[in-house]
Amino acid sequence: ATTLGASAAESGRYFGAAVAAHKLSDSVYTGILNSEFTSVTPENEMKLDATEPTQGQFTYTSADRIVAHAAARGMKVRGHTLAWHSQQPGWMQSMEGAPLRSAMLNHVTQVATHYRGKIDSWDVVNEAFADGDGGGRRDSNLQRTGNDWIEAAFRAARAADPGAKLCYNDYNTDDWTHAKTQAVYRLVQDFKTRGVPIDCVGFQSHFNPASPVPSNYQTTLENFAALGVDVQITELDIEGSGSAQASNYDRVTRACLAVARCNGITVWGIRDTDSWRASGTPLLFDGSGNKKAAYTSVLAALNGG
Ligand code: G3I
Repeated sequence: ATTLGASAAESGRYFGAAVAAHKLSDSVYTGILNSEFTSVTPENEMKLDATEPTQGQFTYTSADRIVAHAAARGMKVRGHTLAWHSQQPGWMQSMEGAPLRSAMLNHVTQVATHYRGKIDSWDVVNEAFADGDGGGRRDSNLQRTGNDWIEAAFRAARAADPGAKLCYNDYNTDDWTHAKTQAVYRLVQDFKTRGVPIDCVGFQSHFNPASPVPSNYQTTLENFAALGVDVQITELDIEGSGSAQASNYDRVTRACLAVARCNGITVWGIRDTDSWRASGTPLLFDGSGNKKAAYTSVLAALNGG
């Protein structure tokens, strides 16, 4: 096929992009989105600070705009994210203990209920593990409410939207040998063993020269999938340019295609100028919306080339 989305669909996968609501009036941006992508992830609009800026008062205008855009075109939506240590509204940042736990669970319930039936996969919990060699949880106000806060969030999400796939999403979990990867693996293994609802693991996959695509990336995806969850590449971007960047994108795409339960890839933005990275050229389209070599290599890989 001739587009990313249609090519991915030939093997039953989606190909998505992170989308910002305020860019949907940019015709170049929306033209690429509508022709190439079959899934969207709101880049910021579903986060805690955006959806509950004042405790108990929920605002969905920007996120609803993205969901409506997707629904009108048959695109899937990845919900991002219900519980996270970052981008908390001010009122939540200053909370601790039992009141924070119930505020977090109420947030999960309210937002997942608002979008019930409209979300393919929810990043229920984002980035809860620490970097480095310790293999432990990240310290945060949420973590200090008790080690079972992740489990509680997943149970609340399942109750609110039984049809959505529930994902744990993180970065620096691509290298199978890393302590953080192993720690997330043990969490998922534990959840599956005890029947805590979890359906998928998101690998953000933000790659750059200091953090390249690991040689065992496919092994990581395979090992998680063997636990009985889908795996999804959720925030892909790769710093670089030309053939080196194209070859890295090719490797990531092929790794997903080689794993039956890797059911979708999302790039974290459309054009290089849409990237969260202040500088660099990590995406598939240049600032003018032209297809890059990286685009061509992903398309070829999706088509078995
Ligand atoms: O909307 C405000 C605007 O009103 C204000 O004037 C402006 C001034 O700084 O800030 C705007 O908010 C910014 C927001 O993006 C929307 O553009 C925030 O400052 C900025 O921090 C925020 O950055 C986002 C970042 O998450 C925050 O953590 C990036 O767009 C977004 O791409 C990035 O995405 C994260 C994923 O959620 C999780 N994984 C890592 C990934 C990359 O960091």
